[in-house]
Amino acid sequence: ADVRLWGARFADGPSEALAKLSASVHFDWRLAPYDIAGSRAHARVLHRAGLLSDDELAAMLAGLEQLLADVRSGVLTGTIADEDVHTALERGLLERLGAELGGKLRAGRSRNDQIATLFRMYLRDHGRIIGALILDLQEALVGLAEAHPDTAMPGRTHLQHAQPVLFAHHVLAHVQALGRDAERLRQWDTRTAVSPYGSGALAGSSLGLDPEAVAAELGFEGGSVGNSIDGTASRDFVAEFAFVTAMIGINLSRIAEEVIIWNTKEFGFITLHDAFSTGSSIMPQKKNPDIAELARGKSGRLIGNLTGLLATLKALPLAYNRDLQEDKEPVFDSCDTLEVLLPAFTGMMATLTVHRERLEELAPAGFSLATDIAEWLVKRGVPFRVAHEVAGACVKVCEGLGIELGDLTDEQFAAISTHLTPQVREVLSVHGAIGSRDGRGGTAPSAVAVQLAEVKADLAVQ
Ligand code: ARG
Repeated sequence: ADVRLWGARFADGPSEALAKLSASVHFDWRLAPYDIAGSRAHARVLHRAGLLSDDELAAMLAGLEQLLADVRSGVLTGTIADEDVHTALERGLLERLGAELGGKLRAGRSRNDQIATLFRMYLRDHGRIIGALILDLQEALVGLAEAHPDTAMPGRTHLQHAQPVLFAHHVLAHVQALGRDAERLRQWDTRTAVSPYGSGALAGSSLGLDPEAVAAELGFEGGSVGNSIDGTASRDFVAEFAFVTAMIGINLSRIAEEVIIWNTKEFGFITLHDAFSTGSSIMPQKKNPDIAELARGKSGRLIGNLTGLLATLKALPLAYNRDLQEDKEPVFDSCDTLEVLLPAFTGMMATLTVHRERLEELAPAGFSLATDIAEWLVKRGVPFRVAHEVAGACVKVCEGLGIELGDLTDEQFAAISTHLTPQVREVLSVHGAIGSRDGRGGTAPSAVAVQLAEVKADLAVQ
């Protein structure tokens, strides 16, 4: 039998080459449960419009239940002859209900409004899954911060030693970025909670159906779309999802890069747990940070999914065009990628060992307390321009002698500037410098404690 949904006006069936090109069932089959949910809601509005009798509705809903069970058990699967998930499910329904009743369900809907709706449902579910995985990672990072409340480390800009900061402060910076990603997903979800079902091919339906009822049944809190052309043609919800997932990948890659560097012999800041690192097939001593490297690598793939999708959408005329079939694989891949990456990444962060002594040892290196000398001078009335020059001169002397700022003698300080009395030593300690930055958002233990409490309160309500 011809399973095509559109064969009547054609004298010949599709060529094999066309069928191969056209088929999407190998990747859109994952939408089958959503398609069936849409069909259930659609059957109810057909019934309410008088197009299905009570008995027909009951039989239709029972048939759809059976269809879902058969999809779940694998009794029914899509084949290349089906073209897409919608065609395969129509075939399955006809096989179960007969052509007379089964053939009534398609009235007033098109694959164009179906796919736009199902795709939103799928991405909303996976947006929530990814959001929960981000929360797990944030909690692991919060745990890391809490385990090291007063450990100092060299804070860097340009990858050069800049100023000492608390390790917890640094880790919480990543938690903040991930928090914005999770928030982006929530805001995207609100915007995407609008159902295109009822838009038909592009113009709406003449059958007196109720798109709002379908939207409510399918969990679209925002109701149904206000414009059927936009409902079937727009894919900015997909592009935005691809952006948010790419941004998550980028944020993971920034943590990953630090893990990779911190895990080197030269840095020696951390050691990864055996269960979350890999060995070498030739070098017996190796223990590699593969999870972090895969995160860094996969961020490129997530960016590619976004840019590929944007290129597909560019300059497409309204309304539906078959180009839009290219919209699914990239973001399905983004979901799959993050759903395997995030649990491994979280495990890696939750189990790594932090080497406190090494972090503390390096915190003051590279003249990272020079700013503290300048600010100490400012508090004594010295203009910052002069203070900056004096502190710079201290660095220069130290560099020449191969010593650190704290090694300068009282005489050497006095020779650099009369402003530099021996009291300047008060600020030449890492923890003194850190503790002095106690304004909101600063690195002092008191300020970091406030930040930690805020972050934890925020995570608790997610
Ligand atoms: N498989 C199509 C897609 O993924 C949906 C079907 C619409 N096809 C059509 N010829 N109007 O976009």
